[in-house]
Amino acid sequence: MTTEFTKDITGAVVDSLKGTADPRLRELLSALTRHLHDFVRETGPTTEEWERAIGFLTATGQTCTDTRQEFILLSDVLGVSMLVETLGGHRAPGATESTVLGPFHMTESPVRALGADIDLVGAGEPCAVSGRVLSSDGTPLPGAVLDVWQADAEGYYDVQRPDIQPPGNGRGLFTADAEGRFWFRTCVPSPYPIPTDGPVGDLLRATGRHPYRPAHIHFIASAEGHASVTTHIFVAGSPYLDSDAVFAVKESLVADFAETDDRSLAGEFGIPNPFRHARFDLVLEPR
Ligand code: BEZ
Ligand code: FE
Repeated sequence: MTTEFTKDITGAVVDSLKGTADPRLRELLSALTRHLHDFVRETGPTTEEWERAIGFLTATGQTCTDTRQEFILLSDVLGVSMLVETLGGHRAPGATESTVLGPFHMTESPVRALGADIDLVGAGEPCAVSGRVLSSDGTPLPGAVLDVWQADAEGYYDVQRPDIQPPGNGRGLFTADAEGRFWFRTCVPSPYPIPTDGPVGDLLRATGRHPYRPAHIHFIASAEGHASVTTHIFVAGSPYLDSDAVFAVKESLVADFAETDDRSLAGEFGIPNPFRHARFDLVLEPR
């Protein structure tokens, strides 16, 4: 009897979704029902455990504010963001790989001129970042837009420490020049822990996981007629490249922030010589 009921209830809920006007919504809700029911059949949670799970999700929602997105963080630490990102992207050969958006892109990056310094505090090791935005056949994409954001040298985003960092610190919206080139100054990013003072932190502690991400700079690159890419560049040699708390490292996204001794190039970037220089191209797939 019990066995029959647990089988039938799944069919009954899936049947109840038949009237869903949007076929994709119906597909998603039906699959969600089947997988959730299978999860319950497999693990047999007690009522107390289920209440605890609901309490956890409630606390996750209650932790979200205009500058904090605990649900994105939860999706990130469970590897779901990376799965969605990777399965959803249809990447032309040679196009830049995507990775997670993360929860700190909630504010608009200030428009900045090429060459500007996005490190408004000036506390970190200066570095120059440069490259080109190209189509997958190698054609430069003049006017491509790059949205850039990163944590400061101590591993915090502007929205996490508004008392210390001015709004827009570590952020910039750049437009590539007539040859698709971009360049800007910043500080070398550091590895940092994702926020652990909420429910996701409790989950990491309960599972004995560390909260660290390897040093990186975020980019969203977009250009007319091309699919945008949301990605990072990771600092070669950074700790945690092989154990990112959100599983977002892809080999192709690791870049050398090379020690560079070149007075004339330093002059072009307006940076003291010698300096650290990350150079890489962002390659977009035509739509
Ligand atoms: C980030 O890199 O900003 C980030 C990504 C996922 C979770 C937390 C932070
Ligand atoms: Fe980040």
